Amino acid sequence: MIIVNSILDLRSTISAWKQSGLTVALIPTMGNLHAGHLKLVNTAKQKSDKVVVSIFVNPTQFGVNEDFASYPRTEQEDQLKLAAEHADLLFLPAITDMYSVNALTTVNVSGLSDSYCGASRPGHFSGVATIVCKLFNLVQPDIAVFGLKDFQQFTVIKTMIRDLNIPIELIGVDTQRESNGLAMSSRNNFLTDSERLLAAQLYQTLCIARAAILAGQQSYLDIEQQALQSLKNIGFVPDYFAICCCHNLTSATQQDKDIVILAAAKLGTTRLIDNIYFSL
Ligand code: PAJ
Repeated sequence: MIIVNSILDLRSTISAWKQSGLTVALIPTMGNLHAGHLKLVNTAKQKSDKVVVSIFVNPTQFGVNEDFASYPRTEQEDQLKLAAEHADLLFLPAITDMYSVNALTTVNVSGLSDSYCGASRPGHFSGVATIVCKLFNLVQPDIAVFGLKDFQQFTVIKTMIRDLNIPIELIGVDTQRESNGLAMSSRNNFLTDSERLLAAQLYQTLCIARAAILAGQQSYLDIEQQALQSLKNIGFVPDYFAICCCHNLTSATQQDKDIVILAAAKLGTTRLIDNIYFSL
Protein backbone atom coordinates (compact mmCIF):
# COMPACT_ATOMS: atom_id res chain seq x y z
CA MET A 1 0.00 0.00 0.00
CA ILE A 2 1.31 3.41 -1.00
CA ILE A 3 1.06 6.12 1.66
CA VAL A 4 0.74 9.63 0.28
CA ASN A 5 0.65 12.94 2.13
CA SER A 6 0.80 15.51 -0.64
CA ILE A 7 -1.88 16.42 -3.16
CA LEU A 8 0.75 16.45 -5.91
CA ASP A 9 1.77 12.82 -5.24
CA LEU A 10 -1.86 11.78 -4.94
CA ARG A 11 -2.76 13.27 -8.30
CA SER A 12 0.28 11.84 -10.11
CA THR A 13 -0.22 8.30 -8.76
CA ILE A 14 -3.90 8.29 -9.66
CA SER A 15 -3.42 9.78 -13.10
CA ALA A 16 -0.86 7.05 -13.89
CA TRP A 17 -3.44 4.43 -12.88
CA LYS A 18 -6.10 6.08 -15.00
CA GLN A 19 -3.80 6.26 -18.00
CA SER A 20 -3.35 2.50 -17.67
CA GLY A 21 -7.13 2.12 -17.85
CA LEU A 22 -7.59 1.15 -14.20
CA THR A 23 -10.75 2.06 -12.28
CA VAL A 24 -10.47 3.80 -8.93
CA ALA A 25 -12.65 3.68 -5.81
CA LEU A 26 -12.49 6.22 -2.98
CA ILE A 27 -13.41 5.67 0.65
CA PRO A 28 -13.22 8.84 2.75
CA THR A 29 -12.73 8.23 6.49
CA MET A 30 -11.61 10.00 9.64
CA GLY A 31 -9.53 7.01 10.75
CA ASN A 32 -9.72 4.95 13.95
CA LEU A 33 -10.73 2.19 11.60
CA HIS A 34 -12.98 -0.67 12.65
CA ALA A 35 -14.67 -3.58 10.87
CA GLY A 36 -17.31 -1.21 9.43
CA HIS A 37 -14.67 0.82 7.58
CA LEU A 38 -12.94 -2.37 6.43
CA LYS A 39 -16.21 -3.65 4.99
CA LEU A 40 -16.23 -0.55 2.77
CA VAL A 41 -12.68 -1.38 1.63
CA ASN A 42 -13.72 -4.94 0.91
CA THR A 43 -16.72 -3.79 -1.12
CA ALA A 44 -14.54 -1.33 -3.06
CA LYS A 45 -11.99 -4.07 -3.82
CA GLN A 46 -14.70 -6.10 -5.50
CA LYS A 47 -15.88 -3.20 -7.64
CA SER A 48 -12.73 -1.45 -8.82
CA ASP A 49 -9.09 -2.06 -9.72
CA LYS A 50 -7.57 0.39 -7.23
CA VAL A 51 -8.83 1.39 -3.79
CA VAL A 52 -7.93 4.76 -2.28
CA VAL A 53 -8.71 5.39 1.40
CA SER A 54 -8.37 8.84 2.90
CA ILE A 55 -7.91 9.49 6.60
CA PHE A 56 -8.55 13.09 7.55
CA VAL A 57 -10.16 14.27 10.78
CA ASN A 58 -12.01 17.11 9.16
CA PRO A 59 -12.16 20.14 11.48
CA THR A 60 -14.97 21.90 9.61
CA GLN A 61 -17.53 19.23 10.40
CA PHE A 62 -17.04 19.53 14.18
CA GLY A 63 -18.89 22.18 16.19
CA VAL A 64 -16.97 24.36 18.66
CA ASN A 65 -17.96 22.26 21.67
CA GLU A 66 -17.56 18.92 19.91
CA ASP A 67 -14.87 16.25 20.07
CA PHE A 68 -12.44 17.35 17.31
CA ALA A 69 -9.49 17.50 19.74
CA SER A 70 -10.30 14.19 21.43
CA TYR A 71 -11.39 12.33 18.28
CA PRO A 72 -9.40 9.05 18.38
CA ARG A 73 -6.34 9.15 16.13
CA THR A 74 -4.74 5.73 15.58
CA GLU A 75 -2.69 6.16 12.42
CA GLN A 76 -0.27 3.26 12.92
CA GLU A 77 -2.98 0.69 13.61
CA ASP A 78 -5.08 2.09 10.74
CA GLN A 79 -2.21 1.65 8.28
CA LEU A 80 -1.75 -1.99 9.29
CA LYS A 81 -5.47 -2.71 8.96
CA LEU A 82 -5.66 -1.12 5.51
CA ALA A 83 -2.57 -2.94 4.28
CA ALA A 84 -4.05 -6.24 5.51
CA GLU A 85 -7.23 -5.42 3.59
CA HIS A 86 -5.15 -4.74 0.45
CA ALA A 87 -6.07 -1.09 0.03
CA ASP A 88 -3.83 0.38 -2.69
CA LEU A 89 -3.29 3.93 -1.49
CA LEU A 90 -3.74 5.73 1.81
CA PHE A 91 -4.08 9.50 1.53
CA LEU A 92 -3.15 11.28 4.76
CA PRO A 93 -3.24 15.02 4.09
CA ALA A 94 -2.35 17.77 6.55
CA ILE A 95 -5.06 20.27 7.52
CA THR A 96 -3.12 23.07 5.80
CA ASP A 97 -3.10 21.09 2.53
CA MET A 98 -6.85 20.60 2.60
CA TYR A 99 -7.83 24.09 3.73
CA SER A 100 -6.08 27.15 2.40
CA VAL A 101 -6.49 30.26 4.55
CA ASN A 102 -7.85 32.00 1.44
CA ALA A 103 -10.66 29.49 0.84
CA LEU A 104 -14.05 31.14 0.28
CA THR A 105 -16.10 28.26 -1.07
CA THR A 106 -18.21 25.73 0.80
CA VAL A 107 -20.77 23.18 -0.37
CA ASN A 108 -24.15 23.19 1.32
CA VAL A 109 -26.93 20.76 0.51
CA SER A 110 -29.72 22.94 1.84
CA GLY A 111 -32.76 21.57 3.64
CA LEU A 112 -31.39 18.06 4.02
CA SER A 113 -28.51 19.41 6.09
CA ASP A 114 -30.67 21.25 8.59
CA SER A 115 -32.74 18.44 10.11
CA TYR A 116 -31.96 15.56 12.49
CA CYS A 117 -28.16 15.56 13.05
CA GLY A 118 -27.94 18.87 11.18
CA ALA A 119 -30.30 20.52 13.66
CA SER A 120 -28.18 19.47 16.64
CA ARG A 121 -24.89 20.03 14.81
CA PRO A 122 -25.24 23.27 12.82
CA GLY A 123 -22.73 23.43 9.97
CA HIS A 124 -21.84 19.75 10.28
CA PHE A 125 -23.14 18.61 6.90
CA SER A 126 -21.72 21.62 5.11
CA GLY A 127 -18.33 20.60 6.54
CA VAL A 128 -18.93 17.03 5.35
CA ALA A 129 -20.17 18.00 1.86
CA THR A 130 -17.27 20.42 1.38
CA ILE A 131 -14.53 17.97 2.35
CA VAL A 132 -16.11 15.11 0.39
CA CYS A 133 -16.46 17.35 -2.68
CA LYS A 134 -12.79 18.32 -2.36
CA LEU A 135 -11.75 14.65 -2.02
CA PHE A 136 -13.88 13.79 -5.05
CA ASN A 137 -12.10 16.51 -7.04
CA LEU A 138 -8.65 15.40 -5.87
CA VAL A 139 -9.11 11.69 -6.50
CA GLN A 140 -11.72 11.78 -9.29
CA PRO A 141 -12.74 8.22 -8.52
CA ASP A 142 -15.08 6.11 -10.62
CA ILE A 143 -16.88 4.97 -7.50
CA ALA A 144 -17.17 6.19 -3.92
CA VAL A 145 -18.13 3.86 -1.08
CA PHE A 146 -19.93 5.14 2.02
CA GLY A 147 -21.61 3.47 4.99
CA LEU A 148 -25.36 3.53 5.43
CA LYS A 149 -24.80 3.79 9.17
CA ASP A 150 -24.59 7.54 8.53
CA PHE A 151 -27.80 7.52 6.52
CA GLN A 152 -28.32 11.28 6.53
CA GLN A 153 -24.70 11.82 5.48
CA PHE A 154 -25.19 9.29 2.67
CA THR A 155 -28.33 11.15 1.51
CA VAL A 156 -26.49 14.49 1.60
CA ILE A 157 -23.64 13.07 -0.54
CA LYS A 158 -26.10 11.39 -2.93
CA THR A 159 -27.90 14.71 -3.38
CA MET A 160 -24.65 16.64 -3.87
CA ILE A 161 -23.56 14.17 -6.57
CA ARG A 162 -26.91 14.59 -8.33
CA ASP A 163 -27.09 18.38 -8.04
CA LEU A 164 -23.48 19.10 -9.01
CA ASN A 165 -23.37 16.50 -11.82
CA ILE A 166 -20.43 14.72 -10.23
CA PRO A 167 -19.57 11.70 -12.41
CA ILE A 168 -19.14 9.21 -9.58
CA GLU A 169 -21.12 6.08 -8.79
CA LEU A 170 -22.08 6.12 -5.11
CA ILE A 171 -22.26 2.79 -3.30
CA GLY A 172 -23.84 2.34 0.13
CA VAL A 173 -22.76 -0.46 2.47
CA ASP A 174 -24.90 -1.91 5.26
CA THR A 175 -24.01 -1.13 8.85
CA GLN A 176 -21.50 -3.42 10.53
CA ARG A 177 -22.65 -4.23 14.06
CA GLU A 178 -21.25 -5.79 17.22
CA SER A 179 -22.78 -9.17 18.09
CA ASN A 180 -25.26 -7.42 20.43
CA GLY A 181 -26.46 -5.14 17.61
CA LEU A 182 -24.52 -1.99 18.53
CA ALA A 183 -23.49 -0.21 15.32
CA MET A 184 -19.71 -0.01 15.14
CA SER A 185 -18.43 3.53 15.52
CA SER A 186 -15.17 5.23 16.41
CA ARG A 187 -17.12 7.02 19.15
CA ASN A 188 -17.95 3.69 20.87
CA ASN A 189 -14.44 3.96 22.33
CA PHE A 190 -15.74 6.75 24.56
CA LEU A 191 -18.35 4.45 26.19
CA THR A 192 -17.73 2.95 29.62
CA ASP A 193 -18.24 -0.83 29.95
CA SER A 194 -21.72 -0.41 31.45
CA GLU A 195 -22.71 2.18 28.82
CA ARG A 196 -21.55 -0.17 26.06
CA LEU A 197 -24.06 -2.79 27.27
CA LEU A 198 -26.90 -0.25 27.31
CA ALA A 199 -25.85 1.24 23.95
CA ALA A 200 -27.08 -1.82 22.04
CA GLN A 201 -30.62 -0.93 23.09
CA LEU A 202 -30.64 1.94 20.61
CA TYR A 203 -30.70 -0.66 17.82
CA GLN A 204 -33.21 -2.79 19.73
CA THR A 205 -35.52 0.25 20.02
CA LEU A 206 -35.24 0.75 16.25
CA CYS A 207 -36.12 -2.92 15.70
CA ILE A 208 -39.19 -2.61 17.96
CA ALA A 209 -40.37 0.44 15.98
CA ARG A 210 -39.85 -1.40 12.69
CA ALA A 211 -41.86 -4.36 14.03
CA ALA A 212 -44.71 -2.01 14.98
CA ILE A 213 -44.78 -0.51 11.47
CA LEU A 214 -44.60 -3.92 9.81
CA ALA A 215 -47.44 -5.09 12.07
CA GLY A 216 -49.56 -2.29 10.63
CA GLN A 217 -49.55 0.27 13.45
CA GLN A 218 -50.85 3.41 11.76
CA SER A 219 -49.70 6.28 13.95
CA TYR A 220 -46.01 6.89 13.28
CA LEU A 221 -46.12 9.72 15.79
CA ASP A 222 -47.15 7.31 18.56
CA ILE A 223 -44.36 4.89 17.59
CA GLU A 224 -41.83 7.75 17.71
CA GLN A 225 -43.10 8.96 21.09
CA GLN A 226 -43.02 5.45 22.57
CA ALA A 227 -39.46 4.93 21.32
CA LEU A 228 -38.30 8.27 22.76
CA GLN A 229 -39.83 7.32 26.12
CA SER A 230 -38.19 3.86 26.10
CA LEU A 231 -34.82 5.41 25.29
CA LYS A 232 -35.21 7.78 28.25
CA ASN A 233 -36.20 4.87 30.51
CA ILE A 234 -33.05 2.98 29.49
CA GLY A 235 -30.87 5.99 30.38
CA PHE A 236 -30.35 7.69 27.02
CA VAL A 237 -30.88 11.38 26.42
CA PRO A 238 -32.55 11.09 23.02
CA ASP A 239 -32.00 13.74 20.37
CA TYR A 240 -34.44 12.46 17.74
CA PHE A 241 -36.24 9.32 16.67
CA ALA A 242 -37.84 9.88 13.28
CA ILE A 243 -39.70 7.62 10.86
CA CYS A 244 -38.82 8.97 7.41
CA CYS A 245 -39.14 8.40 3.71
CA CYS A 246 -35.90 6.65 2.67
CA HIS A 247 -35.39 8.82 -0.40
CA ASN A 248 -35.61 12.38 0.91
CA LEU A 249 -35.80 11.96 4.70
CA THR A 250 -39.13 13.79 5.04
CA SER A 251 -41.53 12.46 7.71
CA ALA A 252 -42.97 9.22 6.40
CA THR A 253 -46.67 8.99 5.57
CA GLN A 254 -48.81 5.90 4.99
CA GLN A 255 -48.10 6.31 1.25
CA ASP A 256 -44.34 5.83 1.67
CA LYS A 257 -43.12 2.32 0.92
CA ASP A 258 -39.39 2.73 1.56
CA ILE A 259 -38.82 3.70 5.17
CA VAL A 260 -35.80 4.63 7.24
CA ILE A 261 -36.01 5.22 10.97
CA LEU A 262 -33.29 7.62 12.08
CA ALA A 263 -32.22 7.88 15.71
CA ALA A 264 -29.65 9.78 17.74
CA ALA A 265 -29.22 9.70 21.49
CA LYS A 266 -26.58 10.51 24.06
CA LEU A 267 -25.38 7.99 26.58
CA GLY A 268 -23.28 9.84 29.16
CA THR A 269 -21.12 12.13 27.07
CA THR A 270 -21.20 9.95 23.94
CA ARG A 271 -23.57 10.77 21.08
CA LEU A 272 -24.67 7.66 19.18
CA ILE A 273 -26.55 7.50 15.89
CA ASP A 274 -28.16 4.55 14.20
CA ASN A 275 -30.93 3.75 11.73
CA ILE A 276 -32.86 0.91 10.21
CA TYR A 277 -34.27 0.85 6.68
CA PHE A 278 -36.85 -1.44 5.12
CA SER A 279 -39.63 -1.58 2.57
CA LEU A 280 -43.33 -2.13 3.19
P1 PAJ B 1 -16.05 8.10 9.49
O1 PAJ B 1 -16.95 8.26 10.66
O2 PAJ B 1 -14.63 7.70 9.72
O3 PAJ B 1 -16.73 7.07 8.51
C1 PAJ B 1 -16.14 6.78 7.28
C2 PAJ B 1 -17.08 5.90 6.50
O4 PAJ B 1 -17.29 4.68 7.21
C3 PAJ B 1 -18.48 6.55 6.32
O5 PAJ B 1 -18.95 6.29 5.01
C4 PAJ B 1 -19.32 5.83 7.36
O6 PAJ B 1 -20.70 5.78 7.06
C5 PAJ B 1 -18.69 4.43 7.33
N1 PAJ B 1 -18.98 3.69 8.55
C6 PAJ B 1 -18.76 4.09 9.84
N2 PAJ B 1 -19.20 3.16 10.70
C7 PAJ B 1 -19.71 2.15 9.95
C8 PAJ B 1 -20.33 0.88 10.26
N3 PAJ B 1 -20.52 0.47 11.51
N4 PAJ B 1 -20.72 0.09 9.24
C9 PAJ B 1 -20.56 0.49 7.93
N5 PAJ B 1 -19.97 1.67 7.58
C10 PAJ B 1 -19.56 2.48 8.58
O7 PAJ B 1 -18.16 9.59 8.01
C11 PAJ B 1 -17.07 10.13 8.15
O8 PAJ B 1 -15.98 9.49 8.67
C12 PAJ B 1 -16.80 11.55 7.70
O9 PAJ B 1 -17.96 12.32 7.87
C13 PAJ B 1 -16.29 11.65 6.24
C14 PAJ B 1 -17.31 11.11 5.24
C15 PAJ B 1 -14.96 10.92 6.09
C16 PAJ B 1 -16.05 13.14 5.88
O10 PAJ B 1 -15.11 13.72 6.72
